Amino acid sequence: MDHFNYRNGTLHAEDVPLSEIASAVGTPVYVYSTATLRRHYKVFTDAFAGARASVFYAVKANSNLAVLKTLGDMGAGADVVSEGELRRALAAGIPPSRIVFSGVGKTAEELIFALDTGILEINVESVNELELLNTVAGERGKVAEIAIRVNPDVDAKTHHKISTGKKENKFGIDIAYALDIFKRAQAMPNLAPVTVAAHIGSQLTDLEPYRAAFQRLADLVRELRAEGIPIHRVDLGGGLGVPYAGETPPLPDAYAAVAREIIEPLDVEMLFEPGRMIVGNAGILLAKVLFVKQGESRRFVVVDAAMNDLIRPAMYDGYHGLKPVIERPEGTPMSPADIVGPICESGDTFAKERPLPLLNDGELVAFTTAGAYGAVMASTYNSRPLVPEVLVDGDRFAVIRPRQTYEEMLGADRIPDWLSGPGE
Ligand code: LLP
Repeated sequence: MDHFNYRNGTLHAEDVPLSEIASAVGTPVYVYSTATLRRHYKVFTDAFAGARASVFYAVKANSNLAVLKTLGDMGAGADVVSEGELRRALAAGIPPSRIVFSGVGKTAEELIFALDTGILEINVESVNELELLNTVAGERGKVAEIAIRVNPDVDAKTHHKISTGKKENKFGIDIAYALDIFKRAQAMPNLAPVTVAAHIGSQLTDLEPYRAAFQRLADLVRELRAEGIPIHRVDLGGGLGVPYAGETPPLPDAYAAVAREIIEPLDVEMLFEPGRMIVGNAGILLAKVLFVKQGESRRFVVVDAAMNDLIRPAMYDGYHGLKPVIERPEGTPMSPADIVGPICESGDTFAKERPLPLLNDGELVAFTTAGAYGAVMASTYNSRPLVPEVLVDGDRFAVIRPRQTYEEMLGADRIPDWLSGPGE
């Protein structure tokens, strides 16, 4: 459920007509709904009512400080994967005790920053990282609480680029080696391995892979405890899918029931790292139709947003719905069209042969379900300034990241001295 609905024939974000935002900020622009963010966070946490469970929002999905603050104020922790994300979580007021640090390739500097900040735990993904962390923690006279991320070797049945829990994926430590690695960590003087972690992939629409993975983690916890390693947390990652094109991903209640059934008997704290499920439906990308171009065999709708603003269709064949901001009456005839951006690549295509009503040059359209992995993955490819972001709350809205100016974009480059003199 989201809060982007037609009212009086115009698509609104909560109580604000999207046309008003376009007039104030221009297009393309990401628009987020506070009510949707809050609702999704609440639905997720309500599913775990009465359980020993904590939510660490996966910052990578949408890292705008205003989004982090909205969730942090509701009690969300943060799952971060870089020093930059850690700094964002702190800047949004999320306390270090509610931050975990995941990622397969952390640098020594990042580990030191995390240790000095005093975050809850670092999720370690290799023996090399264990050794590095043990060394840097020792140098600082600290004992670091850690999770070891295991790779449970289950097929998440999602797009291959966002599957992370199979043997051939780079993530985690093969579950077959986990006991040995936990023992090695336990023997290191500056590490306290207390958590078993896993994350098997993103945009999961089926509970079975979760069930299989959770079962393997539970077995591992029992094995570790039998060896005297006192596990008291299990980090179950994120990954719950959202409906982009009519999928029916499991509801948080059903997901929670599986986690509770398998993990609660262990009497551990459960950690979750949802990203997409919280922010996906809470955002749209508002764009303008530049030209409708009728080819011999195709209708092309050229919009002012492009793959640099929203890369999911080009990168993962991701589907995003498209709604005209001016509502069409029911029964309006539809015909197929390709929705494309201005970038000089055929891959800059948002949709192929999508049934759409006739669209007019200059009219506004919204790409739906764009709140997760949208703005965070934007670039300036083709020297297009970074897209701005707006947060709506009821009948008010605020620019939470202004559009990058041409001066800012060009000003980031430097011309070396040897090129600065007069040309030959
Ligand atoms: N925890 C870890 C360790 C992760 O790697 C991820 C996502 C999450 C949590 C959050 O997963 P979520 O609940 O959002 O599915 N850019 C891709 C998705 C990449 C996901 C990477 N890891 C996309 O646009 O589909």
